[in-house]
Amino acid sequence: MTLVLIHCSAADASVWDSVREHLFGIPVLAPDLPGRRAAQPPADEWLELAPGVDAYAASILRDMDQAGVERATIAGHSLGGAVALWLALHWPERVAGLGLVGAGARLRVKPEIIEGLQDGLREVADLMAAVGFAHSVRDRYRVAMLRMIHSVGASASLADFRACDRFDVMEGLREVRCPTRVLVGTEDLLTPPKYSAFLAERISGARLTEYPGAGHMLPWERPAEVAGELAVLWAATSRS
Ligand code: COA
Repeated sequence: MTLVLIHCSAADASVWDSVREHLFGIPVLAPDLPGRRAAQPPADEWLELAPGVDAYAASILRDMDQAGVERATIAGHSLGGAVALWLALHWPERVAGLGLVGAGARLRVKPEIIEGLQDGLREVADLMAAVGFAHSVRDRYRVAMLRMIHSVGASASLADFRACDRFDVMEGLREVRCPTRVLVGTEDLLTPPKYSAFLAERISGARLTEYPGAGHMLPWERPAEVAGELAVLWAATSRS
């Protein structure tokens, strides 16, 4: 059983690097979403397509097909969580288990993020660096966050946040049938704990884990704990 990891908005698959260091012996597929690094199409074309979460999900299915992965345990962070949820709802035969990290069934985005990205990156990057982390670790990760957002660029980031802003599966969650783990930091400002509680209440059998004092960027802030939870999910779904 492969563990597929789907990254958040304004980022690439490298956000999972620290988590992967703790996933000993688990086959991992962590693709870049379209519009960044070598992923196709390039950012401006991707933005032009006005992709919804369904289009991001289709790109993950193509990555799974290319890797010969028919069915996987699928975990996603933020936008990646939306993509993973979409797959569980629309392609249940491809999803053996679901990991939702700093996620939500609806992901409305602050207008200042979307409007700011239309004018460039600078101020939004600062804002994301400020709200992405728990207060106590903000300074430690600020530069890495700024570097990541600048490397992804405004077009791909804008496509990502617009897709999040339109995402809403709040009515459909009871259709999710696979084993599910929901992970959230208690200081998450972008997908507040309320969103994870909502997921865990409505997805049958879902287990919620809260990380006291952690913010939205759980894969950076708590890589060992996130890996531990995903490894348990992977082991449970590998047996089924
Ligand atoms: N799960 C559970 N409840 C949710 C939810 C979710 N995924 N998404 C929204 N809600 C709730 C809100 O808490 C709110 O409840 P309330 O009326 O009891 O306060 C209600 O649904 C409506 O919220 P929302 O749809 O978000 O609209 P809004 O106009 O109140 O707020 C924002 C819009 C953008 C200000 C707000 O969504 C926000 O602050 N978002 C977080 C920051 C952000 O930009 N995150 C990026 C995610 S990628």
